[in-house]
Amino acid sequence: MRILITGGTGLIGRHLCKALLGEGHDLTVYSRSPRSVAERCGAAVHAMGALAEWTPDVVFDAVINLAGEPIVDTRWTESRKQVLRDSRIALTGELVQRIAAAEHKPAVLLSGSAIGYYGGRGDEELSEDSGAGADFPARLCVDWEESALAAERYGVRVCLLRTGLILSTDGGLLARMALPFKMGMGTRLGDGRQLMSWIHIYDYVALVLRLLRDEQMRGAYNMTAPAPVTNKEFTAVLAAVLHRPAALVVPASLLKLSLGESASLLLEGQRVMPKRMLAAGQAIRFPTLEGALKDLFG
Ligand SMILES: NC(=O)c1ccc[n+]([C@@H]2O[C@H](COP(=O)([O-])OP(=O)(O)OC[C@H]3O[C@@H](n4cnc5c(N)ncnc54)[C@H](OP(=O)(O)O)[C@@H]3O)[C@@H](O)[C@H]2O)c1
Repeated sequence: MRILITGGTGLIGRHLCKALLGEGHDLTVYSRSPRSVAERCGAAVHAMGALAEWTPDVVFDAVINLAGEPIVDTRWTESRKQVLRDSRIALTGELVQRIAAAEHKPAVLLSGSAIGYYGGRGDEELSEDSGAGADFPARLCVDWEESALAAERYGVRVCLLRTGLILSTDGGLLARMALPFKMGMGTRLGDGRQLMSWIHIYDYVALVLRLLRDEQMRGAYNMTAPAPVTNKEFTAVLAAVLHRPAALVVPASLLKLSLGESASLLLEGQRVMPKRMLAAGQAIRFPTLEGALKDLFG
């Protein structure tokens, strides 16, 4: 397949490129730094520096849309919120315009979203049928998904990737968390009761490959392992796998003071289950946190 990937230089994108190249696909990555694409995504990957390069005669069989400014660890000022929205919603809208103009329409659009769609929901078990939350990340995801679903008007199958916390050692939250743990300064966040719905990067890539080729699958999919844990449990398992103590606590008040509204991403959570993936018979190679972390940290 000829596949266009936005955000292909990011954490998920790099893993995905490796797997897709391994399957023999022809990849193009849209990046604001097109010169970095070969080095980050693979020498065989074509670079696209602007979506305007997708002229109506250019053929893509599938599009994977992952681009988005980092949302964690930044203060959500009004101008930052606009940047976060534009880099996802406006970019997806532009992508759909290119799809509308294309002489050969892609068969499928896999478009990013996040479990933040559900908002902070305490211990409530959530599936794809659960309603959206009302906070900033939830509204961002709702609008991002709606923007992608517009591609259905052109006969494109659209799947929405409601992504959980990706576990990988080469980027993302786990890589940042692991460093203080390795130095013996493992910390729990706030009261530690907030739920973390995680997924090993291996399983995430496998789910994306399934969505790409299974023509029966469309709509929203929770991209998580079926075993969410509390932050307290996550901290304890990570400490045990790394053979380090985790006795410290970052008080919620300190996180709120330094991060403002965005501290909610660390202090609130949701118990998300991949109901539709399990119903489709998709195997999860790392269903437990301990197994996933042991695999990642060798
Ligand atoms: N990692 C997670 O745990 C997680 C969880 C839930 C949801 N997600 C979502 O899944 C998507 C991919 O995640 P990731 O971890 O791979 O993210 P990442 O490592 O931060 O990569 C995102 C990519 O988006 C591109 N990008 C950033 N700002 C952009 C802008 N203003 N315009 C166009 N492109 C821009 C960047 O590519 P260039 O710099 O090459 O242009 C970057 O490589 C993101 O949208 C993220 O919000 C991730």
